[in-house]
Amino acid sequence: MSTTPFRHKQALFPRPCPAIKGLCYGGDYSPQQWPESVWREDMRLMREAGVNLVSIAIFAWAKLEPVPGRYDFGWLDRLMALLAGSGIKADLATATASPPAWMARLFPDSLATDGEGRIYSPGSRQHYSPFSPHYRRHAAALTRQLARRYHRHLALAMWHVNNEYACHVSEDHGRHATREFRRWLKKKYRTIGALNAAWGTAFWSQHYSVWEEICTPRHVPTFGNPTQQLDFKRFMSDSILALYVAEAAILRRESPGIPVTTNFMGFFKPIDQWRWARELDFSSWDSYPDPLLGSRARESAAAGHDLTRSLISGRPWLLMEQVTSQVNWRPINPLKRPEVMRLLSMQAVARGSDGAMFFPWRASRAGAEKFHGAMVPHVGGQAASRVWREVCALGADFRKLASVSGSLIQARAAIVLSWDAWWAVELKSKPAQFDYPAWLQEFHAWFLRRNIAVDFLPPDADCSGYRLIVAPALYLLAEKDARSLTHWVQTGGTLVATYFTGVVDEYDHIVIGGYPAYLREALGLWVEEWDPLPENTLQAVRFGRRGRQVPASHWADLIHLEGARPLAFFSRDFYAGRPAVTEHSYGSDKAFYLATKMGGDGLTILLDLACAHAGVAPVGQTPDGVEVTERAHANGVRYFYLLNHNVTPAIVPLAARSGVDLLTGRRHSGRFRLGPNGVVVLRLNP
Ligand code: GLA
Repeated sequence: MSTTPFRHKQALFPRPCPAIKGLCYGGDYSPQQWPESVWREDMRLMREAGVNLVSIAIFAWAKLEPVPGRYDFGWLDRLMALLAGSGIKADLATATASPPAWMARLFPDSLATDGEGRIYSPGSRQHYSPFSPHYRRHAAALTRQLARRYHRHLALAMWHVNNEYACHVSEDHGRHATREFRRWLKKKYRTIGALNAAWGTAFWSQHYSVWEEICTPRHVPTFGNPTQQLDFKRFMSDSILALYVAEAAILRRESPGIPVTTNFMGFFKPIDQWRWARELDFSSWDSYPDPLLGSRARESAAAGHDLTRSLISGRPWLLMEQVTSQVNWRPINPLKRPEVMRLLSMQAVARGSDGAMFFPWRASRAGAEKFHGAMVPHVGGQAASRVWREVCALGADFRKLASVSGSLIQARAAIVLSWDAWWAVELKSKPAQFDYPAWLQEFHAWFLRRNIAVDFLPPDADCSGYRLIVAPALYLLAEKDARSLTHWVQTGGTLVATYFTGVVDEYDHIVIGGYPAYLREALGLWVEEWDPLPENTLQAVRFGRRGRQVPASHWADLIHLEGARPLAFFSRDFYAGRPAVTEHSYGSDKAFYLATKMGGDGLTILLDLACAHAGVAPVGQTPDGVEVTERAHANGVRYFYLLNHNVTPAIVPLAARSGVDLLTGRRHSGRFRLGPNGVVVLRLNP
């Protein structure tokens, strides 16, 4: 039932953790921070909380290899035995996220260098250069040792490669990085002439005569070469991916049959997750929505969940990290309110996760994260602790949801997310600054509020499983991708494109002859000029000649119609009366165009039209702040999730649906009352 929009290199596992029947529940466990006497207490508490999976050894390299080449696995042997004896599985890390201090002492060039030539020091984490041969050699050796030692261990459930790749250091400009960048460019362009053409070096006297003149984009007086910067982003993403691939290859060879993954960070710019996802057995991410964002917090979490699911063509994924109560790394870190941890964990499951994990299991005594909330707070696992009570309650709830594991979400609408477009559109020297993910998430939030299942798609996806595709600010669009999108519309798909789409090719060169270039035919229009709108500029859009007027911001495209029909018009300035929203019948379907930024009501008018045309319907109708989703097994068993994100009760209509709430055993049909922060998971009657 799931669509397969693109090809994965890995044979995907149908569920993230075949070793666990039901949902995964647990946290990031660092027993190396505690005397072994505490470990037994940990096992007791884990059992009490219903924990069945822990991520271990993520930051344990120094403890595993205290001296180069001399390994100490004694403590990990004891830990794995303890876990196995307690019926708890391990998400075992390769421990390569933070090298021991000896690495920097013995191999100073193992440290990464930033764009201003400053070298990172040990004493924090992730300070290594992804290009250091020493780092790579030692990381591979450690991975091999771990895989050989534990591949048959009863406790082993999955491999966790490194951790949040590129989280702190996403660029390296050192000696090794420069050499590898030149090598990567040579492979891509073959001749220096081709590179000069691609980078447009005729501009500002940037011509290169030999490869040795080329550097990573470092500290420069003003705007750097955009294509150089874009290629560098591609190069960094590819190069860090190569680290993952090297470790994953060792694990697959030495430990066949065990799923291999790494944890992503949602809308994280440095890593092109579409390219990475092909190498994963399942996807996962770490979700830390900012509670101060109000309803935006649950919206941004939902967007990350949907992205993570989309990476593996809709298969179940895993929420690898979140916090029980509060993080410690924002300027101000309010608590999650009572029941919100449960609600957000259930939201992840409702959007396709096969469980929910936390960081960390036990709150640290020392170090930079000692004020980070945990499953076991500093006071310990005591009934008097609100957090601990909620942790145990959630574990009990998850046990009741075991049958949900493996079920899928089916979306007929999708939003195009292109890392190339993201990187390129946010480079400097544009008509206006862009926040690409924010614009995408504006659309995603609309689908979320409307209870319409939605995926994300790469620009080169096979779109055939979808009825409606939204392409916001697809500034960089390769000709072949534009052509296949055009063909998809022609043969029966509804497209919504927005301003600043189809402007440049994959080299960040303008496609001459009228934007949006290769999409011009499908959209039935061309854009002559654009007028960025400074904040507080009054601009508005009126639907029809006398219809509803809604505010517009950020941008105004000045359009010439070539077959498209105007649906809405700009209201002000010298282009008042020019089209702001259009629709074009093309082949057997329609393409809509949005020439400006509109929020709530404006977007609703446009997207309701597009959804109606595409035949994309909500999963259910609910009051504001009540989220509904549906997950289904291939055998037809369906689960209906209702999540009340309001602090007040909500009356929820079930329409023709009825079923039993897996959490309470209560039967529901018709309308019923869902308490504040309440969750109901109905197993629907057939
Ligand atoms: C990330 C990391 C963890 C921890 C948390 C803190 O998710 O993977 O090691 O630092 O952030 O929120």
